[in-house]
Amino acid sequence: MNNDPVRDVEEIRSAFRRRLDEVAGVPALIQEVRHEFLGRSRGRLTALLKTLKDLPPAQRGALGAAANQLRTEIEDGLASALQSAGGPAGATGRAIDTTLPGTSFPIGTAHPLTLVRLAIEEIFLGMGYTVEDGPEVESDHFNFTALNIPADHPARDMQDTLYLEGGGLLRTHTSPVQIRTMLKTRPPLKIICPGRAYRRDAPDATHSPVFNQVEALAVGHGISLADLKGTLHEMARRLFGPRVRVRLIPSYFPFVEPGAQFDVSCFVCDGDGCRTCKRSGWIEMGGAGMVHPAVLEGVGYDSEEWTGFAFGCGIDRIAMVKYDISDIRLLYENDVRFLEQFRGAGA
Ligand code: PHE
Repeated sequence: MNNDPVRDVEEIRSAFRRRLDEVAGVPALIQEVRHEFLGRSRGRLTALLKTLKDLPPAQRGALGAAANQLRTEIEDGLASALQSAGGPAGATGRAIDTTLPGTSFPIGTAHPLTLVRLAIEEIFLGMGYTVEDGPEVESDHFNFTALNIPADHPARDMQDTLYLEGGGLLRTHTSPVQIRTMLKTRPPLKIICPGRAYRRDAPDATHSPVFNQVEALAVGHGISLADLKGTLHEMARRLFGPRVRVRLIPSYFPFVEPGAQFDVSCFVCDGDGCRTCKRSGWIEMGGAGMVHPAVLEGVGYDSEEWTGFAFGCGIDRIAMVKYDISDIRLLYENDVRFLEQFRGAGA
């Protein structure tokens, strides 16, 4: 280094020009010249700039201006050298052929169960319901006892319920969310809860140890079975088309009274009988009923004042009939060849 720092600038300038001539046409080497002069730790100009702060103020200004001017020159020189070498003025030094087709990234599709769940959520949000969530690992209390399922009920049998070490269980239905919601909310309320449920079933075309349900619960003043039927009808129409009908067949669930199984008329054959409805004209959808007074009292609701309905139905089942899926296992294997068929599908 000279005593006259401005001469240092001149030296660096001519060294840079020399080097740039030597490497002309080779982008990778041009990048090396960039490091030699502008590199953060060893660049020659960088080193000079670092000495600035130790200079007396009188010299600092002149040198700073000269050095910064050189920095611009070096940057411009590198950029145009790269450009004439066929490379970009940027950092890689590799030519970019903008006519090459881009890299395409595979884009996923919504799972059929998601499509159905979202469609149901939309239907019920539009009717003023909120969407609730609850744990999949449940206690005996929420899954059974609070739902008026007595200790000797067969649903508690080991064959149906997957019990966990330490006393918990995997919820066998989404109904425990009814209890959890009522405990934290004062009536009136209208909620749905879509989610996974588990049963100790061997997998086959129509059984899966994990499946999806949607639960609905409405509690208010004067809510009746007609409200239940109207709500089921609205859901069915929106899911399967305006012509479908709904029927309730008396059935037993400990947490509702009266209880029913609900079916929709087959949207494929309009009730005449076809493969989808197994020639019966009807498709079984789920369980429903008026919330049992014992369940209301159990969460502290006055069953003289409040009434409510509840239903639960299988999201898998809806997806299977709607999209003509013959085996429930397809919904859980996640074979992309299967899933891709739902690209752009609506529910
Ligand atoms: N939880 C019941 C089942 O899984 C369905 C149901 C929900 C029935 C609500 C009545 C009321 O089978």
